Formats: sequence, C-alpha cells, structure tokens
Amino acid sequence: MPGSSDYRKTVFVPETGLPVPPGEIEPIPASMQDRIEHVLIPAGCLQRRVRGLAEQMGEDLRGRKRVAFLVVLKGPFMFAADLGRAVYRFGGPEIAFYFIRVSTYGRSIERDGRVRGKTKILLQPGEIREEDLVIIEDIVDQGSTLSAVRRHLAETGRTSARFCALLDKRLEAPCEAVRKQREELRLDYVGFEIPDRWVAGYGIDAGEDFRFLPFIVVVREDYYRPASP
Ligand code: PRP
Repeated sequence: MPGSSDYRKTVFVPETGLPVPPGEIEPIPASMQDRIEHVLIPAGCLQRRVRGLAEQMGEDLRGRKRVAFLVVLKGPFMFAADLGRAVYRFGGPEIAFYFIRVSTYGRSIERDGRVRGKTKILLQPGEIREEDLVIIEDIVDQGSTLSAVRRHLAETGRTSARFCALLDKRLEAPCEAVRKQREELRLDYVGFEIPDRWVAGYGIDAGEDFRFLPFIVVVREDYYRPASP
C-alpha cells in the first residue's frame, strides 16, 4: 500500500487492482456480482489521490484568484466535485465550474477495432472568463474526447489550458493514429495509470450502471458486450 506521500504522483495500478487497506474493505453487493469482476481502485485510494492532485494544482496555480474547471460530462462529475473541494481545502484558488458534453458516434466498443466515429459538441460551456483553465476528464482511452474538446476550445480562441484526467489507460495495442492522438494530448495531471480493461464507478458508467459507486471496478465485459453473431 503506497504511503500518503506517494499519492502526490501518478499511481500505477496493476491488473489485479490496488490492495484494499484493512478497514476499507467494501464487499460488492450480491446483486452486482454478475456484472463486476473486481475492485480496481478502492474509495480511500481515490480520495487520497484526489487530495494529491489538489495539492499539485494548488501549488501550480498559487497566486491565482480564480480558476476555471471545464468538466467533460458526464463521467467526471464526481471527481470534479471532490477535486474542487480538495483544492479549496488546500488553500488553492477559487474554482468556477463550466461543463461541456461531447458525443462520439459510430463508436465501437470492440477492443481490436478501436475506431471511434465523429465527435460533436452536445453542450457548449458558454463564455469562460477566467484566464486559467483546467479541463477535467474521468478517463483517457483513445483520447478522442479530449482532442475534440481541445479543438473546440481552439476554435473559440482558447489555445492554452491544463489537462487533468483521473485515469489514463495503458492501451495494449493502440494503432498509430491513436498513439499519436494520445501523445499530442500531453496531460498535466493524471490520477492513476490503469490497465487496458473496461472500468466503471466513481462517475464512470458501463451501460449507465455504476456511476454512483465510490470506488472503481473492472466490469465483466461479456455481460455488457453484445454477443457476436
Ligand atoms: C467516456 C469517458 C471519456 C471518454 C474517454 O465518455 O467519460 O469522456 O469516454 O474515451 P476516449 O479517450 O476514447 O475519447 P462517454 O462518451 O462514454 O460519455 P460519458 O462520460 O457521458 O459516460
């Protein structure tokens, strides 16, 4: 179990997940066991890393009066709320919340296909007045969503922003286009580097299940993935 100081840097999550400290064990309810494989990141680990990120941000943004968080709905709603409160507790700047929603259509959930369709901005954030902007994302998979957000901001004249993702997936075999897309994103803050599995919880869904969970799980892909013809 990493000590608290380790939570100031990106936490590497092995395939089997982070160990659950004694006293923090939270059994998966029987009603969910057919859909969940195992816990990947326990609730306490998430909260400690959120505090670490808040400390990092507080230091980087020292002296700023007010900073904008642009939350890429829906996934990071829980993370953004916890992070905003943690930044306040660490004496960081005031936070103004903005929301954006991106849809990617023609998206395939196939592990090998990995092709995602076109992106479209479904909800515009409106005018962001703050000079400092942090984009808040729950998970970077192929990087299409964050790339679309970055393009949208550039079109509206905003060329500088910091990027914060709670989870960054270690893709097993990304195609060249995806590898390049992810490389170009240059994330400023990453909570956890996770294995290439389908995860949910803490705001992230699997078919709209599990957003409410206070921890992150690996879902049973065979339950959610339609059977091949
Ligand atoms: C998920 C997730 C990220 C995105 C990551 O969002 O919340 O925004 O996919 O994938 P990418 O890096 O390959 O683009 P989703 O479109 O499922 O919407 P949601 O947040 O509303 O669940």
